[in-house]
Amino acid sequence: MNTESENLDLDPNPHPDGELATQTITLPADTNQDGEIHGGWLACQMDMAAHLASSKVAKGKVATVAIDNISFLAPISLGSIVGCYTKILAVGRSSIRVSAEAWVSHVVKGEEWRKVAEGVFTFVAIDSNGRTRAIPKESS
Ligand SMILES: CC(C)(COP(=O)(O)OP(=O)(O)OC[C@H]1O[C@@H](n2cnc3c(N)ncnc32)[C@H](O)[C@@H]1OP(=O)(O)O)[C@@H](O)C(=O)NCCC(=O)NCCS
Repeated sequence: MNTESENLDLDPNPHPDGELATQTITLPADTNQDGEIHGGWLACQMDMAAHLASSKVAKGKVATVAIDNISFLAPISLGSIVGCYTKILAVGRSSIRVSAEAWVSHVVKGEEWRKVAEGVFTFVAIDSNGRTRAIPKESS
């Protein structure tokens, strides 16, 4: 019999949480000696996607100030398409927290899309001198 916590993990229709920010394909230079994709490469893709999402909110330059709770859930093979999805979690005076998920599919192998990593990225809006600046308020 399943426990309540096991039932909560079951998702009959898994789908990305957030908007598609970037999409790319894995190349030989992104692999380790076993032919799998480096975790650092994937973290970089997620950082770039979250950077893009937060710079739209900040209406200008941002810098990564913290990366929390990156989990790598499954390996990625060479030639996979990697889509990074982002969602704005919180906007402060100058900071923006963004969740990022990486999903992959291998078109040639006919794989279903599956989530391979997730994490939370924090950015700070900066000016042209690299100093913290306030995020402009949304005009209504
Ligand atoms: C980004 C930077 C200008 C911020 O300077 P700072 O003096 O730490 O800024 P502040 O203390 O004024 O904090 C600014 C905001 O960031 C938040 N913040 C700072 N450090 C944080 C951290 N480690 N985690 C989460 N939020 C953080 C603060 O809470 C504040 O948020 P708010 O304005 O929304 O309330 C500075 O830390 C920096 O230049 N870091 C390097 C950035 C970089 O090069 N990134 C790429 C790495 S290769």
